[in-house]
Amino acid sequence: MSRHVVCPGSFDPPTLGHLDVIGRAAGLFDAVTVAVLVNPSKDGMFEVPERLALLAETTARWPNVTLDSFRGLLVDYCRDKGISAIVKGLRAVTDFDYELQMAQMNSGLTGIETLFLPTSAEYSYISSSLVKQVARYGGDVSAYLPAEVDRALRAKLAD
Ligand code: PNS
Repeated sequence: MSRHVVCPGSFDPPTLGHLDVIGRAAGLFDAVTVAVLVNPSKDGMFEVPERLALLAETTARWPNVTLDSFRGLLVDYCRDKGISAIVKGLRAVTDFDYELQMAQMNSGLTGIETLFLPTSAEYSYISSSLVKQVARYGGDVSAYLPAEVDRALRAKLAD
């Protein structure tokens, strides 16, 4: 049986931490869809098409990774696409409470499973929001981002 999983998220912008989880999921499952949430109530720094373009550049090395965006409930998206599990990265115990709540809610809604991959230690403190905050104040975040994303972030902040 072919295993198709989703790595959902905001990816505003994608970090090396995201790519670590996506790449490892690509090694474990037949097909991985990276699904960007379209959130009408939250303005991001990058538009969803920009996030998808950055993901396209940075995930091209994994042939079984595809990209998409979704609105509404993740469980509905998974049902529509025949996706059998959600894969999420867990950075630290601080992520765990909310991730467990979401995993249990999603399971309660449709029975879908959530699998957690521990983020590789070197990426355990990276988040898109922290990277944006540091970059806004002129900090160097190039160690935390793929080169394409670092360039795009600098260009965005120079606008
Ligand atoms: O990168 P993020 O912002 O931590 O990702 C969170 C995401 C997109 C996985 C989560 O907010 C989500 O699944 N949103 C879709 C709406 C939904 O299904 N909400 C109920 C979750 S139990």
